[in-house]
Amino acid sequence: MRVPIIAGNWKMNKTPSEARRLAAEMREELERIAGVEKVLCPPFIDIPAVAEVVQGTSIAIGAQNLFPAPSGAYTGEISPVMLKELCQFVILGHSERRAYFHEDDSFINRKVLAALEHGLTPIVCVGENLEQNRAGKTEEVVSGQVRGVFNGLSREQMLRVVIAYEPVWAIGTGLAATAADADRVIGQVIRPVLSDLFGEDVAQAVRVQYGGSMNAANSRELLERENVDGGLIGGASLKANEFVEIVRIAAAVKGCKG
Ligand code: PGA
Repeated sequence: MRVPIIAGNWKMNKTPSEARRLAAEMREELERIAGVEKVLCPPFIDIPAVAEVVQGTSIAIGAQNLFPAPSGAYTGEISPVMLKELCQFVILGHSERRAYFHEDDSFINRKVLAALEHGLTPIVCVGENLEQNRAGKTEEVVSGQVRGVFNGLSREQMLRVVIAYEPVWAIGTGLAATAADADRVIGQVIRPVLSDLFGEDVAQAVRVQYGGSMNAANSRELLERENVDGGLIGGASLKANEFVEIVRIAAAVKGCKG
């Protein structure tokens, strides 16, 4: 069975002291919810403060990026070896990084391999933009991304990956995909490509989150869908109550099956 996973992508928000407060505000309530994997992904500079707050709890920490080398002359970058001391997860290939920092599938592929090599669980984002969606190219775009970013992974490596299906037009817009559409893209595009590449057992075992304007109000409907194994939450993860509520809903909807 696929254990549900809810991750908060804090993006470029919160100073270290604000991050410490936000994590502390969520800690007790999140800790009380079983059957769901819970991940907080603060900015790099906030990670030590948040790690301190969640130490000894079931709450995991994720970074929002990495550079695919263990160390070296890469000014301004952070390596998987550094992250490994404080993080268990890392978000890779987010559409904001694709758009603003020109990351392509082959570079994201190197990052995925580097994360796995160093024992981090990558949360790898795929998703079509509005223009592609309107042109009926969702399937082509998403399947191309899946093939590109997971190129060369072994079956064992693929089983450790989490995918986030995030239609770009739904991110930060307040306009989430419908539950039926999210379920369809995950179940009829992403899993079949995984099946083709790694076998049907792997395709059924890999967890796929939905992301894009997911909040406490719409999360139940999305999480009720069979192929939606969790959420990657942006805006709503910056409000303690809202994020806790989404995790609670995930536990109620999926937890018993997890
Ligand atoms: P959003 O962001 O929930 O604010 O739409 C999701 C994401 O970008 O991961």
